[in-house]
Amino acid sequence: DQIEKGGYEHFMLKEIHEQPKAITDTFRGRMLAEDNIIKMSSIELNLDKFLNANRIIIVACGTSWHAGLVGEYLFEDMARIPVEVEYASEFRYRNPIITNKDIVIAISQSGETADTLAAIKLAKSKGAFVYGICNVVGSSIARETHAGAYTHAGPEIGVASTKAFTTQITVLTLIALKLGKANGSLADHTFKNYLKKMQLIPKQVEELLNIDEHVKQISAVYKDAKNCLYLGRGFNFPVALEGALKLKEISYIHAEGYPAAEMKHGPIALIDENMPIFVIATNRGHYEKVVSNIQEIKSRAGKIIAVVTEGDTTVKEIADHVIEIPDTEEALTPLLTTIPFQLLSYHIAVMLNKNVDQPRNLAKSVTVE
Ligand code: G6P
Repeated sequence: DQIEKGGYEHFMLKEIHEQPKAITDTFRGRMLAEDNIIKMSSIELNLDKFLNANRIIIVACGTSWHAGLVGEYLFEDMARIPVEVEYASEFRYRNPIITNKDIVIAISQSGETADTLAAIKLAKSKGAFVYGICNVVGSSIARETHAGAYTHAGPEIGVASTKAFTTQITVLTLIALKLGKANGSLADHTFKNYLKKMQLIPKQVEELLNIDEHVKQISAVYKDAKNCLYLGRGFNFPVALEGALKLKEISYIHAEGYPAAEMKHGPIALIDENMPIFVIATNRGHYEKVVSNIQEIKSRAGKIIAVVTEGDTTVKEIADHVIEIPDTEEALTPLLTTIPFQLLSYHIAVMLNKNVDQPRNLAKSVTVE
């Protein structure tokens, strides 16, 4: 067991630290930045289907569903293809409208989730082309889909998904870029710039992991909180949802993720001096609007822990704590903003003596409805 954990105290921590390598492995053979191309035969062989699709429907559960939401923002922004993201469990029982002009993308770490598998079978029966994004090679979902891409994250043992999530986002980004280039939605120089910035991500994640001690200190301050709020906008709204899920899963603290601007329609009523609020406020994404959300929290005495772009000065003055991430394109920030939230949940769970790798009532792979 100790050898398998590679010197880390828990699989989750090991897997968090494996992300620079996992993302690099996901790029390997696909992103050829020097040649300015993305090579993915599963997309190339089916390019006509993707380019002629009316829409893409992403189906998944749990953390994979959050990756799917990031995918929605990526596909719509980069490739201008309409996207819907569905919980597989809702989709399969809703008598959904699916035609042979729809593409369904199923995302699953394990490749065994019962609801996702059933959603795939339903979509196939209605004539849709189904593409899978799985981590486990040869899994049921990998076999049931018409085509797909593996995430190459390596085995993920911790029940709370970490490297599977970031590598799912990596694959989705590669596909969105490839389709955007193919259908002319992305100008050549924009595509090239994204590839250049993508290539920096593994190093930036590695650099970001050095904030571990800082995040640990923040965790010590908030470990006894009963409720937490996570806020983000745009590409980082799904990261807020995922941050809240990570905290719930392993530390059993109630947490909710919300789009920052929706705060005023409910969650703001909860804010008082006992409420830690984690806000993603990167400098290219609706920055001023998020800053004004932060001010609203401040005026209600909420505690603000902000994830900002390095060098930020405005938020630093208002927030109780800031966590800096390296600069990148806004569309790529989920690969970075996720990391501090993973570390935070990990440290809080350890401090509360919870079973980090095998939280109560949860399973790594849910093969029943
Ligand atoms: C379980 C796991 C989650 C995972 C979800 C979907 O709930 O505990 O970590 O996100 O299933 O699993 P999948 O293997 O389909 O990604």
